[in-house]
Amino acid sequence: METFKTNYLPLLFLAILAYCSILYPLLVESCNPIDEEALLKFKGGIEYGAQYQLATWIPKTNCCATWYGVECDAANGRVVRLSPFRPANPMDVDISVFVNGTLSPFLGNLTYLQVLDLFHFQENYLSNPDGLRGPIPPQLGMLSHLTSLHLGANILNGSIPTSFANLHKLQFLYLGHNRLSGSIPNIIFRSMKSLSTLSLAGNNFTCSIPSSFMKKLR
Ligand SMILES: *[C@@H]1O[C@H](CO)[C@@H](O)[C@H](O)[C@H]1NC(C)=O
Ligand SMILES: *[C@@H]1O[C@H](CO)[C@@H](O)[C@H](O)[C@H]1NC(C)=O
Ligand SMILES: *[C@@H]1O[C@H](CO)[C@@H](O)[C@H](O)[C@H]1NC(C)=O
Ligand SMILES: *[C@@H]1O[C@H](CO)[C@@H](O)[C@H](O)[C@H]1NC(C)=O
Repeated sequence: METFKTNYLPLLFLAILAYCSILYPLLVESCNPIDEEALLKFKGGIEYGAQYQLATWIPKTNCCATWYGVECDAANGRVVRLSPFRPANPMDVDISVFVNGTLSPFLGNLTYLQVLDLFHFQENYLSNPDGLRGPIPPQLGMLSHLTSLHLGANILNGSIPTSFANLHKLQFLYLGHNRLSGSIPNIIFRSMKSLSTLSLAGNNFTCSIPSSFMKKLR
């Protein structure tokens, strides 16, 4: 009896370990309540695309597991990537055409977000511009983990929020083809130490890109 127990103890241990590692990811990958609220507020601001791309965004379900275009960090369960208007198959260009609405300030509550990609694919954007409209919420400047921000090919207007000076980790900034205006504040780009790619074409900015920044880009 004694030998039986000791021989099978390691097996029992392995069985428990296997059981726990199956359960463990399920426990950490539930939607954080702050993230869930922010995503649902964002969905609320989208008028036409909701029944397509955002149809899987159902309250009280796990945003990390089943919501289209949402990715979480497995360790802390927080949303790190948001790209709901990208077709699952990059060759499928029709799916992302029908998006309009505004950007919710609640997006600024997605504290751990690294990639925010709301590029609006439109085959005939130049002849018939459409997409997300209104201002870029200053709250996006709270997303201090952002490495990539893509808001291209929409009809956003107003100016670049000065709060973008907080986006120290930003490497890619695409704001091209919108209706943005105003000056491009020097302070923003001086603090974006990691910026490697910048797209601002097709807007109505009043002055040129600061020379200090051009030098940095080489
Ligand atoms: C958004 O799209 C819907 C459906 O095409 C349209 O009825 C509505 O007028 C659009 N809203 C704006 C502000 O463009
Ligand atoms: C989420 O964002 C909204 C809009 O900026 C703000 O009013 C609210 O306090 C934020 N909630 C949290 C938990 O930070
Ligand atoms: C942005 O567009 C809306 C709707 O056309 C307009 O009412 C608003 O004044 C515009 N804002 C700026 C800053 O141009
Ligand atoms: C830029 O401003 C001019 C004059 O106000 C306007 O006619 C034009 O449509 C604007 N362009 C964009 C891309 O908003």
